Amino acid sequence: MESGLADLRSRVRAAGPWYHTLDLGSGVVTEGMFDLRPYAERYGLPPDLSGLRVLDVGTFDGFWAFEMERRGARVTSLDVDRTQQLDWPPRLRPSEDGERGHTFAIASQALGSEVERVGLSVYEATPKRLGGAFDLVFCGSVLIHLRDPMLALERMAGLCRGRFVLAEEHSRRLAPFRFARGAEFRGDSPWSTWWIPTASTWETMVHTAGFEDVRRHGRFNLRFRDGRGGVPHVVIHARGGATG
Ligand SMILES: C[S@@+](CC[C@H](N)C(=O)[O-])C[C@H]1O[C@@H](n2cnc3c(N)ncnc32)[C@H](O)[C@@H]1O
Repeated sequence: MESGLADLRSRVRAAGPWYHTLDLGSGVVTEGMFDLRPYAERYGLPPDLSGLRVLDVGTFDGFWAFEMERRGARVTSLDVDRTQQLDWPPRLRPSEDGERGHTFAIASQALGSEVERVGLSVYEATPKRLGGAFDLVFCGSVLIHLRDPMLALERMAGLCRGRFVLAEEHSRRLAPFRFARGAEFRGDSPWSTWWIPTASTWETMVHTAGFEDVRRHGRFNLRFRDGRGGVPHVVIHARGGATG
């Protein structure tokens, strides 16, 4: 028992840095860049997801996948398996490739999770590849990192037969231009971020991709775990009309 715990601790340490703060039980908590636990209620996910088939897009270490499983859902999570599959702005693209998904695997095993992680880009995600449509599709902080967020939204609309929950950074700088549909171009930033649309631009993008009943659920400032700064987030809910 003790040696299993020591083994988990050393695997958690060796696998870092972690993106999500995850409580893996027995006092093992990962030191993620973000601790989403105090923000979980801001996203408006139903407390009971029993019986629902749910997709977590861009799962990373798996915080949302494990949270939705805890709420009773059958969860599939999606992420790319190699760093070269990320949409790097050309000047930031690393020369080396690397594996992704090892932190998710450690957490999944420690939690005894049955979430199925599929190594696939959202650009390639279709009902055929993922065994049908989903009752709920969740996407958190992924689209700002994509060169083509509209294609990703279109793919998610094709996968969603129920609720869609999107949480993304939004531009406060462009917010005063209320009647323009604007996005900051950030491809030259060191954060491999491409676009920061305004909150209302996000809503228009979600509707344009094919979702109905698009509405703003809320906004909040997501602080880094160490308490510094923060990232302004908007949460958008919508309804998908996929069949299957
Ligand atoms: C900033 S993290 C967000 C993690 C998590 N969704 C959350 O809300 O905390 C972005 C995640 O999106 C993933 N990602 C980037 N491009 C992707 C793509 N084309 N398809 C699927 N996932 C992608 C990254 O690998 C990373 O895990």
